[in-house]
Amino acid sequence: MTRKRSLTGIKPTGTPHLGNIIGAIKPALELSQTFDTNYFIADAHALTTVTDPDELRQHTFEVAATWLALGLDPETSVFYRQSDITEDFELAWIFNCLTPKGLMNRAHAYKGFVDAAKEAGSKEPDAQVNMGLFSYPVLMAADIILYSADVVPVGQDQKQHVEIARDIAVKFNNLYGDILTVPEPLIEKEVATLPGLDHRKMSKSYNNTISLFVSDDELHKQIKKFTTDSVEPGETRDPKDVPIFKLIEAIANEEVTGQVANNLREGNIRWGDIKELLFEQIKETFGPAREKYVELQNDRSYVDEVLVQGALRAQNQAKPLMEQVRKAVGLR
Ligand code: ADP
Ligand code: TRP
Repeated sequence: MTRKRSLTGIKPTGTPHLGNIIGAIKPALELSQTFDTNYFIADAHALTTVTDPDELRQHTFEVAATWLALGLDPETSVFYRQSDITEDFELAWIFNCLTPKGLMNRAHAYKGFVDAAKEAGSKEPDAQVNMGLFSYPVLMAADIILYSADVVPVGQDQKQHVEIARDIAVKFNNLYGDILTVPEPLIEKEVATLPGLDHRKMSKSYNNTISLFVSDDELHKQIKKFTTDSVEPGETRDPKDVPIFKLIEAIANEEVTGQVANNLREGNIRWGDIKELLFEQIKETFGPAREKYVELQNDRSYVDEVLVQGALRAQNQAKPLMEQVRKAVGLR
């Protein structure tokens, strides 16, 4: 029996942080036990916002090295740069020609951008929106459908985009015959949204992240910045209301997590100790990944070669479908 295919991409718009790793990369890697997997670096999507070429190259390396350090096996998973597969852009164009503009007007990334500009009093909120950003979900549909992916593991925020990809696949099939696989989003309900240093969602946009692939000193400094309040002696806390506990829970084993929970409930609370514990647990859980990352940093050409080889495999996957699509729509 052929296995189903899971596919996802991460945009290289910043240095991956603990939230990305726990919320997206680790769950996707676990899926490679049950699915065939395509994982890629969405560098073309990043171009909608990143205009500095060195920055784009650096973040592309960081995202690739993060996946590899955390255990992505490039033999098992097809692992590549989105932009290396030119068929993706060709398919996106064909999809552009059957996607109603109104559907894009409702896409939340664009809508959010326009709403924010309106709120800021802009008379022409569309002026700052490039066409790449506007048609972002069309390229994303091509990313997914080109490889006949069955499931797309994403965070809640990307669900609408995968639904747009479904709409596009259905529309194409109705017009041209049953050629495309209609994908489904796979939202991991159990994966917690990790809070950042200031307790908001950990996000590169809020500058409140914990980066794993830094020196011990740097890691320690980041953790010490986690905001905590003052507690009266003997005051008790419900662990579920304690932001730093969410990090402990996501990283430490059950025994350690249980101990911290008990301490909070019993009023034995010292934030400094909890931070030290978090530091130790991160070092323990991610020790091998952090070592591997340093190795990769010293061998960038290896990372590059992995991506080039992955792109060859992805191209081979893409070509037969693209031929069928071209023929179906009446192109050569
Ligand atoms: P950011 O908010 O830092 O810009 P992205 O939006 O690029 O992160 O997210 C990339 C992936 O990481 C998505 O699948 C998203 O759901 C996941 N992710 C991002 N932040 C968190 C978080 N704080 N907790 C859990 N998952 C997260
Ligand atoms: N839009 C996704 C994000 O911002 C990244 C992405 C691009 C993606 N293409 C994809 C995710 C295809 C899943 C499938 O996180």
